[in-house]
Amino acid sequence: MDSLAAKLTTLTEQAFSALGLPVEHARVAVSGQAESAQFQCNGAMPSAKAAKKNPRQIAEEVIAKLQELDSEGVFALLSVGGPGFINITVADGFIGSHLTDLAGDQKEGVPKLAKGETVIIDYGGPNVAKAMHVGHLRSSIIGDALRRMMLATGYKAIGDVHLGDWGTPMGQIISEYELRHPEWPYFTGGDFSSFDPQITMVQLEEIYPFASKACKDDPERAEKARKATAELQNGHPGYRALWTTFVEVSIAGMKNNFDALGVHFDLWKGEGSVHHLISLMVERLKDQGFAREDDGALVIDVALEGDKKEIPPLILYKRDGAVMYGTTDLATLVDRMNENHPSKIIYVVDQRQSLHFEQVFRAARKGGIVPESVELTHAGFGTMNGPDGKPFKTRAGGVMKLEDLIGMGVEKARERLREAKLAEDMPPKEKEDVAHKVAIAAIKFADLQNNRVADYVFDLDRMTAFEGKTGPYLLYQAVRINSLLKKAAEQGMKPGTEFSLQDEERPLALLLSEMPDQIAQALKNYSPHIVCDYAYRVAQEFSSFYGNCHILSETDEVLRNSRLALCALTARHLRTLLALLGIEVPERM
Ligand code: ARG
Repeated sequence: MDSLAAKLTTLTEQAFSALGLPVEHARVAVSGQAESAQFQCNGAMPSAKAAKKNPRQIAEEVIAKLQELDSEGVFALLSVGGPGFINITVADGFIGSHLTDLAGDQKEGVPKLAKGETVIIDYGGPNVAKAMHVGHLRSSIIGDALRRMMLATGYKAIGDVHLGDWGTPMGQIISEYELRHPEWPYFTGGDFSSFDPQITMVQLEEIYPFASKACKDDPERAEKARKATAELQNGHPGYRALWTTFVEVSIAGMKNNFDALGVHFDLWKGEGSVHHLISLMVERLKDQGFAREDDGALVIDVALEGDKKEIPPLILYKRDGAVMYGTTDLATLVDRMNENHPSKIIYVVDQRQSLHFEQVFRAARKGGIVPESVELTHAGFGTMNGPDGKPFKTRAGGVMKLEDLIGMGVEKARERLREAKLAEDMPPKEKEDVAHKVAIAAIKFADLQNNRVADYVFDLDRMTAFEGKTGPYLLYQAVRINSLLKKAAEQGMKPGTEFSLQDEERPLALLLSEMPDQIAQALKNYSPHIVCDYAYRVAQEFSSFYGNCHILSETDEVLRNSRLALCALTARHLRTLLALLGIEVPERM
């Protein structure tokens, strides 16, 4: 359904068109100055310019037309402000009936922005055999929120984890196993079909850093790893089988983490899953005259005239025939175009990889792999820093593992609940569930509320607080409204279907009616922080409303039921907005 501003735009469009003014200027928006008007249309100024007329006079004419067209009593006050702003204040009855529509809206105020177009969202991107660290946290949280938002607004949104499973680290691990267990059938050419190497995540977390350091220290060792990588990619059966095993072990570990975080993926593909597409893709690029040899490697030039900075060629094959990060990303585009026919592909990846995506996108356009009609976006994000302003680390100086981070969050959430005397009388299992939900809300909201590209400081104390712009504050507000509604139900009171508005409820009512536009705005630039800001404003506005009037103790039944209805709508709004962000509201707290 539409927002109130959108409904008003329809009316001003009629007025503009009746007056022969360009309708594209008729847009009505929520006024920036709530004191002077609720809504505003700034279209008189540009229209006057074109018509060589006085903008204030045009504004007057539009107002007269609006009044003439207004048979339903929409407008309470129309006036001209400043150089020709059309200030609009609407009748309470109009807001009230809008809220009745909103309360009955099956989509709960979430706008329909697509007709089932497919969009692929590439996020998460953890690397096989490495513990997931906080660097992958931002990608997962933002990507999953965008997936939820796009799904809710009518896209067929597909989340793909795009595992890092095909680069040099794979050869480092394989060669390390070969050094440690030369007798394994993967290496002897024996039958490995029923061989179980008993690989565990703990083992991989030891073996990968060990091998990686060994390769750094010893060129000969590095050469072994390089060879193993190339052989793996070229289909060495034993290497492939071993690789499959440790990829599976890694995925199982990742799934645990992602489940705990409430992050979902539709596809568990990786860099390696498109390897079979590479040779044909490269042949095509050669035939087209785009791929060229460069010092033994095969590259594709992607620099364009007018580039302000140097954009180096994308490497397709290294000298040893191994493929690179860019090669698999390009082949992944071939795969996605073939399999999913998307209208958009969005990469939620660290901002520092922007050059990589520029290269990949350009190569994809040049080679005709992705036509211009399909949107390719790198929705980059900034760094999560520690209190020292440097990328977040553990106290020992290592990278923080995702599971440890979640554990810390839950620990802190328990403490916060104790301090606030919340969840006190619950059975232990429910209490733990609430603590988990508070922790996840804290971590996700702290991340999502920042402008995507900005860096932010990870501050566990602040993000878990029940006061301020935090996830726990929003959960608390939502739960508080629900408990109020429960109390009302116990006393036989029920939210009404009509909204009778007075000064106390008008600001909240107007704010609730902005929902569709806020969500649309957030998706425009893939900016979940807009949804966060909006949810926070709703919670705050609810607080003022709650502080300013009686609800359960209100003796006027019509007014009381209207206020209860406003409570119910606010609670639903908060739940819906938080769900779009991947944050779950507990039943009680
Ligand atoms: N595995 C990569 C990393 O850890 C992220 C993958 C991002 N997605 C992509 N299609 N390149 O940096």
